[in-house]
Amino acid sequence: MLKTIKETADFIKSKWGEQPEFGIILGTGLGQLTDDMQTDIVLPYEEIPNFPVSTVEGHSGALYLGSLGGKKVVAMKGRFHYYEGYTMQEVTFPVRVMKLLGIEKLIVSNACGGTNPDFEIGDIMLINDHIMMMPEHPLRGKNISELGPRFVDMSEPYSLEMIAKAHKIAADLGYNTKEGVYLALQGPTFETPAEYVMVSNMGADAVGMSTAPEVIVAKHMDMTCFGISVITDLGVAGKVVEASHEEVQEVGRLTTPKMVAIVTELIAQS
Ligand code: HPA
Repeated sequence: MLKTIKETADFIKSKWGEQPEFGIILGTGLGQLTDDMQTDIVLPYEEIPNFPVSTVEGHSGALYLGSLGGKKVVAMKGRFHYYEGYTMQEVTFPVRVMKLLGIEKLIVSNACGGTNPDFEIGDIMLINDHIMMMPEHPLRGKNISELGPRFVDMSEPYSLEMIAKAHKIAADLGYNTKEGVYLALQGPTFETPAEYVMVSNMGADAVGMSTAPEVIVAKHMDMTCFGISVITDLGVAGKVVEASHEEVQEVGRLTTPKMVAIVTELIAQS
């Protein structure tokens, strides 16, 4: 695996001579962040050696190399979801590559269902922790010690400093932000009413089908992580409404400008 990651990182380096500081993974409906970037190069996933190719409608699938908030960034427009059939190694491969490009800070975003009764559709939740409930673990198997340790510390999966900064930035911009725990399930079904109750009883505030694998692999490689969620539907007991991919994309699209403003300023200040 190490050879493959190096090969992909070397390919990207050969196309772009800059030293990126931040990696950004854009979730469903949140891809417009790339419109605000000063983009140097766009690499469609199918042109990047060893990259899996995205399959889901609404995930267009390209790496954007450029600047945001005055810093050099690599942004993934479209991520690889476990429910698409990729292995956990494929889902997290781009994060491995980002580390080899020299990136130390990873920003992950997603659309998710809110289970906290204080949440509303369109809320922005800063992720302060996650519960990994997908059926496979991205670090299962032989450990590659060049990348990180066998047993990984997860005491601060999401940077408390970046969360505090992001709340302040959002408040200064006049945006309300929530904070909470993200629980990762494999999908692709949205949750049943009973499953939403389970998510809530487990101590989570929101549920989705991504993010935790990427953050686990980033922590394996000692990266600092920041996670931001858009609540696109509600799974609050007694108030479960029908969820659809179209609605998730639409709420994501409408909330993106706020998310982009917060992330851009956070990058500028970090
Ligand atoms: N559950 C799981 N994943 C999601 C949801 C949800 O309610 N909304 C957006 N992604």
